Amino acid sequence: MISINLLLLSYLSLLHTGFVDAFFEVPWSESTYGPDGPWHAVKIRVGGNDTETRIESQEGANIDVYPGGQFETWSIPTVACKEYSNSLCGAGGLYDPEEQYDGILYSPNKADDSYGFSVEGADIFGRGLTIAGRTVWNASQISTPLANITYPSGRVGGVVLGRLSLGANDPEKGAQLSQVFTQSDITLGNITVNIFPAKLYQDKEIQSYSYGLHLGSTTFNYPGSLIFGGYNKARVIGHVTTFEDPQIHKLLDIGIGVEEGGSPFDFSSQQGLLLNDTTTPTSIDVNIDPLTPYLSLPGKTCEKIASFLPVNFDQDTKFYHWDVNDPKFEQIVSSPAYLSFTFPPGTGDSANVTIKVPFALLNLTLDRPITDKPTAYFPCHPYTPDPADEFSKPRLGRAFLQAAFIGRNWKSRTTWLGQAPGPGSNGVVGLGEMKTEIQENDSTIESLDEDGSKKLFAMSWKGHWTAAADKPKTSDGPSNTNQGKESSTAAAASKGMSTGAKAGIGVAVPLAAIALVGVGFLLFRRRQKKRDQANAAPTVLSEMGSQQQYLPVDSHSPSHPPSHHQKPYQDYYAHKADSSPMNSTLNSSLPPQELHTESEPQEMPDRGDPRMR
Ligand SMILES: *[C@@H]1O[C@H](CO)[C@@H](O)[C@H](O)[C@H]1NC(C)=O
Ligand SMILES: *[C@@H]1O[C@H](CO)[C@@H](O)[C@H](O)[C@H]1NC(C)=O
Ligand SMILES: *[C@@H]1O[C@H](CO)[C@@H](O)[C@H](O)[C@H]1NC(C)=O
Ligand SMILES: *[C@@H]1O[C@H](CO)[C@@H](O)[C@H](O)[C@H]1NC(C)=O
Ligand SMILES: *[C@@H]1O[C@H](CO)[C@@H](O)[C@H](O)[C@H]1NC(C)=O
Ligand SMILES: *[C@@H]1O[C@H](CO)[C@@H](O)[C@H](O)[C@H]1NC(C)=O
Ligand SMILES: *[C@@H]1O[C@H](CO)[C@@H](O)[C@H](O)[C@H]1NC(C)=O
Ligand SMILES: *[C@@H]1O[C@H](CO)[C@@H](O)[C@H](O)[C@H]1NC(C)=O
Repeated sequence: MISINLLLLSYLSLLHTGFVDAFFEVPWSESTYGPDGPWHAVKIRVGGNDTETRIESQEGANIDVYPGGQFETWSIPTVACKEYSNSLCGAGGLYDPEEQYDGILYSPNKADDSYGFSVEGADIFGRGLTIAGRTVWNASQISTPLANITYPSGRVGGVVLGRLSLGANDPEKGAQLSQVFTQSDITLGNITVNIFPAKLYQDKEIQSYSYGLHLGSTTFNYPGSLIFGGYNKARVIGHVTTFEDPQIHKLLDIGIGVEEGGSPFDFSSQQGLLLNDTTTPTSIDVNIDPLTPYLSLPGKTCEKIASFLPVNFDQDTKFYHWDVNDPKFEQIVSSPAYLSFTFPPGTGDSANVTIKVPFALLNLTLDRPITDKPTAYFPCHPYTPDPADEFSKPRLGRAFLQAAFIGRNWKSRTTWLGQAPGPGSNGVVGLGEMKTEIQENDSTIESLDEDGSKKLFAMSWKGHWTAAADKPKTSDGPSNTNQGKESSTAAAASKGMSTGAKAGIGVAVPLAAIALVGVGFLLFRRRQKKRDQANAAPTVLSEMGSQQQYLPVDSHSPSHPPSHHQKPYQDYYAHKADSSPMNSTLNSSLPPQELHTESEPQEMPDRGDPRMR
């Protein structure tokens, strides 16, 4: 093995001379979060502004947040949870930015009605954002003193977690590297704030301004994967669909199928379950969004899917509860049956891309404040978008992203969506680790088992679901002999990998060779990174049209009196609490204007803000 690695190393160093070989992996929290999951979250540290002092000793907080969204990274201050002690408000940790900071008042008029999230006034500011020991200074952040979640029943709870921004889209240029805000008091100068993966890219620590994300599943103890500047190739199976929008893509169809063995339904498959208002199957635009929990789909679609399942629409919670006493329930959620989502082919491809979400992942749990005790629910959430809001779309949230890989190269304006593998077997997580860079201009990514012939999807679920014996005379299901073949392949594979398994390499024999490349790659990367750090040149981004990425910002003297909009936090909150709060606060200090980015002028962040989708 060592000699193979050495060979690969030299091969790779030839291949990569002149390139920076690097990506950045974001660590996941051990904790999981409800009340409608539970879900995984990533670990970050927010706060700090002193480059000379250890970040841990500066004001700040270690918090868990959902990866998702653009522009600002959001955190929850203590005051936001005062009224919501009934809920998991701020369960991922709270952060109270120090009282005097370059805050910019921000007034989004609405946040996301697909999960009842609303926010009334927030502050944008620049402070340290530290992930896995790497601090980006003056990172673009939002603190939300007034925010809550109104569940479909009307019950209100606090916001559970903040969010880690995955980048930023510039409608003109594709990639937006930083944000620049004016302040009403010109002597304070402009505020430039950084976006974490953009800064790493500018500093040449990652090869591209991109991310690759798979949420995994808490039920199956299957950790998530989030990489900036790359992705874990072993989290993507089959053909990948692509689209230009950061999150919105056409959904062609929804179906039900069974991956192997007999069907727990009285049919082997169904298509045409995506219904809008009529009974005719249709296609719709959906927003694929890790910040929202459910499958927020047209009511008719949920009704149609539910008609095949042992679920009841609960009039109190307004969710579909599984009928856990119906034997069909256990049969379905422990079988290889799945809900399928069909998307158009990726660029240059001709086949539709179908992402299968096993029902095993759709046995989720509602908890307080939605229900009084843990309740199994099916996460189809009947949702009607707001026709007045062009960004309001049906959504495929975390429930879907348990089974799907999503990634984006902001610069090439390409989002990738593909099938993610199941939890894995024989002590291997998923199909292993094949961390792979995304190159600067990449608009395609590679996946495993593109033609499906290796049956890696089924293999990754082995041991987690139970295939039923084929019903006699079912003509279209795969046969039991086929299954026998698969399991012997799996057994052979795991035997062959016993050495590699120590290094956390994948399970399947065909993967082993590629996985070894991954190991060589990592070793190499470490060396290369050191060298690159030594040679680090000033950031040059000529191809991105950077007339002036960093506007000169006057450093204001500490003795300068704080302006209106730099009110201490408490004041700001108190102000909001009176009868016509927002107007008076906002009028006294001009609303923030996002001047421009490194490329083009941007619209004001408080109206029709694409990042709020
Ligand atoms: C960091 O923030 C603190 C609190 O606002 C402030 O007193 C200090 O001057 C700042 N330090 C730097 C280096 O900006
Ligand atoms: C929830 O938050 C919104 C926005 O701040 C606010 O208008 C609403 O009154 C809050 N609802 C409750 C019940 O607190
Ligand atoms: C802030 O940015 C604007 C737009 O680029 C510029 O005109 C202005 O001079 C800047 N102000 C300061 C104080 O740098
Ligand atoms: C779905 O129905 C809504 C509400 O009637 C309508 O506004 C929308 O255009 C429909 N979408 C499609 C794709 O038919
Ligand atoms: C459904 O999920 C709950 C909570 O994770 C779990 O306890 C239960 O065993 C699951 N049911 C089945 C049949 O898998
Ligand atoms: C893609 O799916 C749609 C909807 O199911 C179907 O009408 C179309 O024929 C499919 N296209 C291909 C190339 O399979
Ligand atoms: C990406 O494209 C730009 C031109 O748009 C080019 O200057 C740059 O070298 C390309 N990067 C790589 C790694 O090929
Ligand atoms: C952060 O931004 C402020 C201006 O808003 C600037 O004075 C300071 O030097 C920046 N800090 C770092 C570490 O870049």
